[in-house]
This record gives sequence, C-alpha cells and structure tokens, in this order.
Amino acid sequence: MKHVFYKGEDSTKPTLLLLHGTGGNEHDLVGLGKEIDGAANILSVRGNVLENGMPRFFKRLAEGVFDLEDLKFRTEELKNFIDEAAENYEFDRNNVVAIGYSNGANIAGNLLFEYENVLKGAILHHPMVPRRGVELPSLLGTPIFIGAGKNDFMCPAAESEELRDLLQNVGAEVELYWHSYGHQLTQDEVQAAKDWYQTKF
Ligand code: MLT
Repeated sequence: MKHVFYKGEDSTKPTLLLLHGTGGNEHDLVGLGKEIDGAANILSVRGNVLENGMPRFFKRLAEGVFDLEDLKFRTEELKNFIDEAAENYEFDRNNVVAIGYSNGANIAGNLLFEYENVLKGAILHHPMVPRRGVELPSLLGTPIFIGAGKNDFMCPAAESEELRDLLQNVGAEVELYWHSYGHQLTQDEVQAAKDWYQTKF
C-alpha cells in the first residue's frame, strides 16, 4: 500500500498508524500524528480504493452504506500490510495505535471487529459501526478513544453510542468524546484525544 514512514526518536513509544478520510492521502494526518505524539513512529497509509478519483480504504455502495465484502477484503489487506511494515521498518508489531478519521476510522474500527491483538489502541475520529450482527474478538483492556459530533449527518449520535457499547461489551476501555458540531474534526477534539493518549501510552 502507498504510505510514508517516519521513524520516531523514542522506540518505546507506539507506532501511530494514520488512516485518512475519503479523498485524503498518506500525507494528510502526519501533522495530526506528530501533534498526538512527537516522539512516536508514524506509518501513514493511503487507501487502495478510488471513488471518483478519491482514495478510500474500502468501497461503499452509497454514502454510509458499506460494501461489506470489500470491507472484509481491504481490512485483511491492511492487516497484512501492517505485519509486513513492522518487519521492514523494524517496529514492534504489538505496539501499534491507529488514528483514523471518518473512512479511516471505519477501517480501523473494522480491524478491531475482525482480529484479536491487531492494535494496541485506537483513536477513532467520527467512526461508524462498521458491521452489525457479528461476534467481536476480545478487546480486553484495549484503550479506544471515539470522537463524535452531536450533529454529525454521517454518523448519528445513537450510532456512536452503539459503537462504544459494542466495543465495551468485549472488554475495551472506551472514552467517548462529544462535540456539538458535525462530521468535522475540531481542534478541541484533537486536544481531548491527545490528553487521553498521554494517560494511556
Ligand atoms: C465511509 O464511507 O467510510 C463513511 O461514509 C465516511 C466517509 O465518507 O468516508
């Protein structure tokens, strides 16, 4: 997968896996990652799917309606990519924290839905419930931050709460942060994610 990797100064820190929103690329969230943890490795990836020229991490059938077959395939592809990147760049595969926004948060969420021990933790900015009616692997003790908007047209407040509950039910330690706006990522939300990250990692 297309990506950039920046080696951090402190090898005991997590590697931050950055996953952009629809129409973004591997450079978009690098500044955000550095703001969250300036000493951590950064692995920032570009989604392999194109929708009218806009990169995404998986196909969708309509806005907010996921192509579940493609989601499964792309989630496995991303997992394999992380495994290979850990070997190539010699970082600790067991210490990867995802930071995703929107479509990137959705594939990060689905990584957690599909695989045990795939991420050490995650910051999900404006995620949706990736799939329903499936059994989740144990996420015992996994710290997860969800940033949500009370007026998010893409993800209603009830869906953010549903996602929190699904993750908590399998043992994740979820912090749900609200702002009163829509789907956008605000500076206050980033600050809240940073404060949370500092207490967890
Ligand atoms: C998705 O398809 O992942 C969601 O609709 C959010 C987005 O537009 O990226």
